[in-house]
Amino acid sequence: MMNFHILTLFPEMVMQGLHTSILKRAVDKEYISIEAVNIRDYTLNKHGKVDDYTYGGGAGMLMQAQPVYDAYRAVEQRIISKRQSGAQMREIRTNGRIQSCRVIYVTPQGKTFNQEMAQEMAREEDLVFLCGHYEGIDERVLEEIVTDYVSIGDYVLTGGELPAMVMTDAVARLVPGVLHNGESAATESFSDYLLEYPQYSRPEVWQGRQVPEILLSGDHAKIEEWRLEQSIERTKRLRPDLYEKWAAAHEAYFMRKAKKEARERRKAMKRQKAGSQTNMEETQKSEVQKIE
Ligand code: ADE
Repeated sequence: MMNFHILTLFPEMVMQGLHTSILKRAVDKEYISIEAVNIRDYTLNKHGKVDDYTYGGGAGMLMQAQPVYDAYRAVEQRIISKRQSGAQMREIRTNGRIQSCRVIYVTPQGKTFNQEMAQEMAREEDLVFLCGHYEGIDERVLEEIVTDYVSIGDYVLTGGELPAMVMTDAVARLVPGVLHNGESAATESFSDYLLEYPQYSRPEVWQGRQVPEILLSGDHAKIEEWRLEQSIERTKRLRPDLYEKWAAAHEAYFMRKAKKEARERRKAMKRQKAGSQTNMEETQKSEVQKIE
């Protein structure tokens, strides 16, 4: 079971968003667990305040170090006591400090999230996401607890909750058992740099548009080949950057393709030769008949 711990000021937003559909089923079946930890619950301020003005001036408020740190420590303690046996403990060193799990601060300043990062994160037993709000979080607590700075793209959102939810979704679906069809995580877009091929369901003709003939043929080998070609063509056209990566990792595909094309050319030439041979023979015959 993989456990997601999300440190946030808006736990309902995270829980509502993530306890739906496939992830809800995965939580119910105990393939994953998702907890949203309310940072406000850990503030020592008697009015429940978690933010304050920034030193040096400037607009906006900053989340203070104390509630963030204490919320994280509470999660870390729970993780440590869950993994009772020392053998199970995998230690992570950040800034010379030993900690028991990866702590991902979602920020536009981080490394851009991608499928490879999702795959790597899916190997962890626990992942902690730290969501900032307002102008961000006091740098000192980030230095103390964060192991990874990750962004979901070059745009700025009002808080880290949506990015944390995006990453949780992308990682959770890679956890064994979460997706029903064992195949789909491996064959879908990006798993191997290729985008997905086009898919069709009933009816066969919709608004005058016909489902590609090959998909109705029942020839599974041909269908697979067509799908791969569609994926390659689509990736080359829409995401040339991904196509380059795929092509570099699949030289064998191009060798096979070149060999197949050469075979087909030879066959066509043979057919042409055979055709012109019979043509020639027939002309000769008719000329002999004419002479006779
Ligand atoms: N917080 C605000 N914007 C973000 C982004 N693009 N990625 C991650 N965290 C963020």
